[in-house]
Amino acid sequence: MAEPKILIVDDELIVIKSAERVLKGEGYSAEGALGGREAIMKLGQESYDLVFTDLKMPEVDGITLIRWIKKMKPAIGIVIITGYPSQDTIKDALELGIIDYVPKPFTPSVLLDVTERAVQWTRGRKPEEAKKTEEFPPAMAAELDRVVAQLKKKPGALIPVLQRAQEIVGYLPPIVQKRIAKGLNIPEAEVHSVVSFYSFFTMRPRGDHNIRVCLGTACYVKGIEGVLKKIQDTLKIDVGETTENRRFSVEAVRCLGACGLAPVMMIDQETYGAMTPKKALEKISQFDPTILEAPSADEAEELAEKEA
Ligand code: FES
Repeated sequence: MAEPKILIVDDELIVIKSAERVLKGEGYSAEGALGGREAIMKLGQESYDLVFTDLKMPEVDGITLIRWIKKMKPAIGIVIITGYPSQDTIKDALELGIIDYVPKPFTPSVLLDVTERAVQWTRGRKPEEAKKTEEFPPAMAAELDRVVAQLKKKPGALIPVLQRAQEIVGYLPPIVQKRIAKGLNIPEAEVHSVVSFYSFFTMRPRGDHNIRVCLGTACYVKGIEGVLKKIQDTLKIDVGETTENRRFSVEAVRCLGACGLAPVMMIDQETYGAMTPKKALEKISQFDPTILEAPSADEAEELAEKEA
């Protein structure tokens, strides 16, 4: 089966180029359009299966582009790939029927994960292949449906359903939110508002181990910043990201309720106090000793300076 053709729309060339590189590396056919206006031109001239678009762009923004596609080329699947969308903009996009959302800056694994699901979505909806594929693994979908059926009659079912869904799927992408909204017979926008409001829900995939670093006042004055920097340098990810191998995610939070132990971090459900950069790495390396094998960016720089 031919790989789908993807159009990446962004007003930053660097985003287009990096998405192209990742997608082409996996055998997808991908090309870019520098902004909504150029995208509409290209969509008028050639056929595409998927459009990945930024929302905030000058002249023709993402929402306008999505509306145009839905009206003129409704068979094309749409994924949003954007930095800090407002809740209202995401709501608008969900109501227009996007497939999924990729946060920017993205890691190759997140982009490929969402692309794979978007491809399945597109294939599942093409008339000639209708219903042949599931939107996500059938066992996961069945478990999610079972949870919804079990809890839907209880008052305030949405939050417990979302909690269970996050345990099952690992995170709550739009595709999962849509399935829950349908199962509970409520608007998708309502599900999205709850997911966005509570910090314990996430729309980004997390790693096997979630590291939460407290940037609250007590931790901050005791030097948590240095701890966070060390973790970021060692795992080579920023706050809100997941490592390439999906082992770790890093989150920054305001207070973990253990100020007396400051500076504090948590790994999964375990709290660790009096952290230093060294101690933090020791704790993290208990889950994956290989993180200590490669020197961090700072250490590599130091080593290079010493060798020079
Ligand atoms: S400020 Fe860090 S635990 Fe409270």
